[in-house]
Amino acid sequence: STSRAAALRGRFITFTGNPFTMPPQEALHVEEDGLILIANGLITHCGAYDALRGLVPEGVTVTHYPDGLISAGFIDTHVHYPQLPVIASWGEQLLEWLEQYVFPTEAQFSSPEVAQAVARAFLQELLRNGTTTAAVYCTVHPESVTAFFQESEKLGTRMIAGKVLMDRNAPENLRDTAQQGYDESLKLIETWHGTGRQLYAVTPRFAITSTPEQLEAAGALFRSREDLFMQTHLAENEAEIAFVNSLFPDRASYLDVYDKAGLAGPRAIFGHAIHMEEQDFQRCHDTRCALAHCPTSNLFLGSGAFRLFDAVDPHRPVHVGLGTDIGAGTSFSLLGTMGEAYKVSLMAGKQRLHAIQAFWLATAGAAQALHLETKIGTIAPGMEADLCVLDPAATPLLALRTQHCASMADLLFVLMTLGDDRCIKATWVDGRLAYARPDPAHPAG
Ligand code: GUN
Ligand code: ZN
Repeated sequence: STSRAAALRGRFITFTGNPFTMPPQEALHVEEDGLILIANGLITHCGAYDALRGLVPEGVTVTHYPDGLISAGFIDTHVHYPQLPVIASWGEQLLEWLEQYVFPTEAQFSSPEVAQAVARAFLQELLRNGTTTAAVYCTVHPESVTAFFQESEKLGTRMIAGKVLMDRNAPENLRDTAQQGYDESLKLIETWHGTGRQLYAVTPRFAITSTPEQLEAAGALFRSREDLFMQTHLAENEAEIAFVNSLFPDRASYLDVYDKAGLAGPRAIFGHAIHMEEQDFQRCHDTRCALAHCPTSNLFLGSGAFRLFDAVDPHRPVHVGLGTDIGAGTSFSLLGTMGEAYKVSLMAGKQRLHAIQAFWLATAGAAQALHLETKIGTIAPGMEADLCVLDPAATPLLALRTQHCASMADLLFVLMTLGDDRCIKATWVDGRLAYARPDPAHPAG
């Protein structure tokens, strides 16, 4: 068998601890002139260039990023690929926004051609933003899932995705039934879960659009294989919560609706979770599920301010990752999403999100939240070689401002506050160069 080798040289950062439970600087490792050796999609060695240069195999060219900053690829824990065409739609809050913009667009995804074209554009946009793994909602149509996984498999990206389940309170052409949703999901799980780098998430949209029977069926699916994911929406918007309470008057809380159906547990990802009681956070801690914090979406739809520091309270920490929540979110960039998470942290409590904490939420912390920390999220031997290369001088303003950075924390904060897709110089997936920013001098190249 021939081995597929690569080597990257440059400054890199990675996490050796949790910056929410120790001084942030102590959780971050900075390698000023680093070398990352890769074979067959896995990192074999990483450390100081001078110490490791002798290990570069014969015939392997070292890709040098002398002015770059290399990080583990970003992880987006909540995003809807079919909503790419309705990003930036004006004027509504959640329920009206879904009806007016989202449902009409999602209805197009019965067509495999539409699904393939949008999946392709969506995945390119992720790579342009340094995102190498995402938890992705498809639509109710199995074709939308097939198209997405096919395109992801071509790129070799590790993606989590699933067919949306909805059997009520949605247009007729977007509804399945409890039985049909179960059968179609099971077939997709058999085809895609663990195929290449693809992972399946059982995906009931939210409690409003699933009957109790469908939520039960989703719970049965979620338990049907050891390492499946589950994703849904939780406590995002006041009108949504009132509707859920009227549909499930016997449940103790919105979270309890999912919990009683067997949908809370490791690898369950709840989007938003803005309006939460202490008991809900406690239950999330006990069940080891994850919350996806989606600040640009929450600001865009006027949903509210996620209480990040209450969620991650070290006395009963809840797993948290960041989500772009395209198309309610307004940016594909995890850098931009970190910047907005900082601003939301100022509105939601006393503690302020530190830059090192923000980068952890987008990489190592997200990987832990997804129980994938042995595969992705850090730069270390044995980890999958998904990396992004940041350019701290991507624009004239960034070049000017980052010259004055006195510390790595300062540099990371500037990147998350001013940065976006322009800061992504390259994205490596499975040990291969998957995206390289065009040279501004030769934009067509
Ligand atoms: N709740 C149910 N569906 C959705 C969706 O597509 N986007 C958001 N932001 N919230 C939801
Ligand atoms: Zn969402």
